Amino acid sequence: MSAPWWQTGTIYQVYPRSFQDTNGDGIGDLNGITQRLDYLVDLGIDAIWISPIFPSPMSDFGYDVSEYCDVDGRFGTLADFDALLAQAHARGLKVLLDFVPNHTSDRHHWFLESRASRSSPKRDWYLWHDPAPGGGPPSNWISDFGGSAWEWDEATGQYYYHAFLKEQPDLNWRNPAVQAAMHDVLRFWFDRGVDGFRIDVLWHMVKAAGFPDNPSNPAWQPAMGEMHRVLQVNSTDQPEVHMLAAAMRDIADSYGAGAQSARVLIGEIYLPVERLMHYYGGERPGVHLPFNFQLIDAPWNARALANLIAEYEAALPPGGWPNWVLGNHDRPRVAAKRGQAQARIAAVLLLTLRGTPTLYYGDELGLSDVAIPPEQVRDPRELREPGLGLGRDPVRTPMSWAASKNADFSTARPWLPLHQDWPTRNVERMAQNPGSILELYRQLLAVRREHPALTIGSLAMLDAEGDVLAYERRHEAQRLLVALNLGAHAQSLALPGWAGDCRLLLSTTAGPPRIEGGVLLLRPDEGVILTVG
Ligand code: GLC
Ligand code: CA
Repeated sequence: MSAPWWQTGTIYQVYPRSFQDTNGDGIGDLNGITQRLDYLVDLGIDAIWISPIFPSPMSDFGYDVSEYCDVDGRFGTLADFDALLAQAHARGLKVLLDFVPNHTSDRHHWFLESRASRSSPKRDWYLWHDPAPGGGPPSNWISDFGGSAWEWDEATGQYYYHAFLKEQPDLNWRNPAVQAAMHDVLRFWFDRGVDGFRIDVLWHMVKAAGFPDNPSNPAWQPAMGEMHRVLQVNSTDQPEVHMLAAAMRDIADSYGAGAQSARVLIGEIYLPVERLMHYYGGERPGVHLPFNFQLIDAPWNARALANLIAEYEAALPPGGWPNWVLGNHDRPRVAAKRGQAQARIAAVLLLTLRGTPTLYYGDELGLSDVAIPPEQVRDPRELREPGLGLGRDPVRTPMSWAASKNADFSTARPWLPLHQDWPTRNVERMAQNPGSILELYRQLLAVRREHPALTIGSLAMLDAEGDVLAYERRHEAQRLLVALNLGAHAQSLALPGWAGDCRLLLSTTAGPPRIEGGVLLLRPDEGVILTVG
């Protein structure tokens, strides 16, 4: 049987507010995504994941859903979504939506009913609790956005729990009625034809019964943000969550199991590798891909990366398919962390490791974090804990398409400022420059498509000394060698015997590779893919 699309393909995350505006309100929309599908096809990706598009008060920019089976007017209509899906499918692109099951908006009618009275039939749909015996919040749990995670409700004299904003009350997933209602949401979108979901904060969905205090974090520093004062051992990652994942998986699998028809579930989970692996499932399968975010923060040296890759590979359960991520709408951009030269190396790494890669929009242009003047800050995280560098606006700025007004993102002032170098760092301009990072991404994606060794092949580490990371990807007779110089000085790599007679498939820098006496000479910041035979 051939490998399913979600194993061989590349996923591209679209942050819809910032991709393309078509109605002149400065906010990206669904028609904008539809308009840019040809760009995505041409880039060479296989699937898009769109951050939440559902009706929302936008307290957390769509991660506060007030209606799960509709589209927010700012993004368009259900008909616009259907058109987007049809257009994407006509081009062979899959479409994944962002499922936000852990919490709703406080304006969702479920919550309005739940908070109306203690005897409401929906009271138990959320997590209500009396004050602690001596008064005050029921436990020491802290919101991920700072402050107590418990909000007092004067009218009914109880607290409710919110892992994020008080405008995002957590659902009670131990309640079968909640499970059934949310399963209907999945079916609603699967029936419309979506190819899968990214599941928001999957590891948060179940909390320890009785809400016991979290232990304090001995390593806490104020710069980490308030949430890290405690270790979230009781408020997250409870064993029952795996049954919930398995139930969602059953629904996904019931819609298709073929190489092309399969639906995929990707879990957002920030946990150490060993804990992460449980989300693949045990006796019953869990999500197809528990997001692996390790490259975002990894120390940028060959030995550390080689160990991380080896340990991740070794920890995978039988049949567990790997995946890799360099960035998303919550974390610093790769170009900001690694610099422009090494962002190119990171691109090669992402697209040549074993497993499904997810790209974050704009990374293919080398977009960096954009400094946001205080008066333009929009992210609730930054507004609540300013100045710690935790805000996410810098990584959510508009995509730059051309050197014309507002980078062709919008006819109006964009909701967040554009990066400063947009007149040159834009799709139209960079597409004309064979040396641009955009063209590197395009080449990488093409090489990946043409070489099964890079998608379904095995991986073997070759070298990890100083600044040189090298590995082999192999499928049947096809053997590729990837060598990455993680630093700004020239390096050399003694090629293994089998790679004696090799040919260059791709380099991040200009000029042919130099191989002398079985030694590959790498230029500063150079990464290469060689093919043998
Ligand atoms: C996830 C989202 C993030 C959001 C949070 C609460 O981590 O990626 O953007 O703020 O969940 O829904
Ligand atoms: Ca718009």
